[in-house]
Amino acid sequence: MKILITGGSGFMGSNMIRYLLRTYPEYEVLNFDKLTYAANPNNLIEADGNPRYQFMKGDIADEIAVEEAFANFNPDVVLNYAAETHVDRSILDPKAFLMTDVVGTYQLLEAVKRHGTGKLVQISTDEVFGSIETGAFTEKSPFEPNSPYSAAKAGGDHLCRAYWVTYQTPVVVTHSCNFYGPYQYPEKVIPLFITNLLEGKKVPLYGDGLNVREWIYTEDHCRAVDRILHDGKAGEIYNIGSGEETTNLDLTNKILELTGNNESMIDYVKDRAGHDRRYAIDHTKLSNELGWEPKTSFTEGLAATVKWYLDNKEWWVPLKSGEYEDYYQKQYVDR
Ligand code: DAU
Repeated sequence: MKILITGGSGFMGSNMIRYLLRTYPEYEVLNFDKLTYAANPNNLIEADGNPRYQFMKGDIADEIAVEEAFANFNPDVVLNYAAETHVDRSILDPKAFLMTDVVGTYQLLEAVKRHGTGKLVQISTDEVFGSIETGAFTEKSPFEPNSPYSAAKAGGDHLCRAYWVTYQTPVVVTHSCNFYGPYQYPEKVIPLFITNLLEGKKVPLYGDGLNVREWIYTEDHCRAVDRILHDGKAGEIYNIGSGEETTNLDLTNKILELTGNNESMIDYVKDRAGHDRRYAIDHTKLSNELGWEPKTSFTEGLAATVKWYLDNKEWWVPLKSGEYEDYYQKQYVDR
């Protein structure tokens, strides 16, 4: 099988490429990536030189580059991991989110339609559903996005639905809870807090710290996308969740403990604008129809993640400078 993965140099895309090359010795992968700030060619050093792996630099919103990738590689399947994903950045400056998450998705749908590609898997988020006080979002929950990021992802997902209904373009949409694990750019809460503590810095906890997130380990997410890639039905939507909910404060306390720190390292800072209180996602459909279950508990996954950041300082220390520092300066001045 020939798989075109967009955004393959980012956290989730690179984990998926490693997973596919390891799990399926006959599959070929083209990584099509714009190499934005959050991408890191070092994520895939081990794939370099593998004859089943190719890289092409390109932007999914660029029609010509997308056409070139499809025409030259002729994929059987496309996995769209390319996205601007960080909520706080979307609050500061939404434009890139609209370009990649809406226009980029449109360009991929057009290319899949033009080339008669077998399937497009759109990797999306539970944030399109908004915030939920009790219970969990199902695949039928209405979209109520609250940040420019989630609104842009919702726009892309709506286009996927429209292309299926209007043109029968074979697209499958996933909505996932928060993912974490090795190689995650240190702006997301888990790697930010771990790396800050390893540097002896405090961790900025937003608001009262009682917002709730559901966490899935990256390897479990890869296995879920594997099931959807092979057996997910065109036109369908699948939620990917773990059932492992935690408040940000509990999460912070766990990271403090794993890194040998205490609550004095928490810096309670001003809340995020429009901060969704709770996300929870019902993954019954994925379990019942495609036989998938998460395998890694949050306790195990978090411990493995802390260990990875401890053992791989050379990967993340250089990332926390330059553009990263500029972003944090803006982030705290503007809030
Ligand atoms: O739910 C899936 C989504 O999870 C993905 O679609 C997004 O791309 C991804 O960024 C993530 O969104 P969140 O906003 O939930 O993730 P983040 O790591 O930014 O924040 C997680 C929680 O931690 C959230 O309630 C805000 C809080 N937080 C975050 C940061 C960066 C803090 O308290 N302090 C921080 O410095």
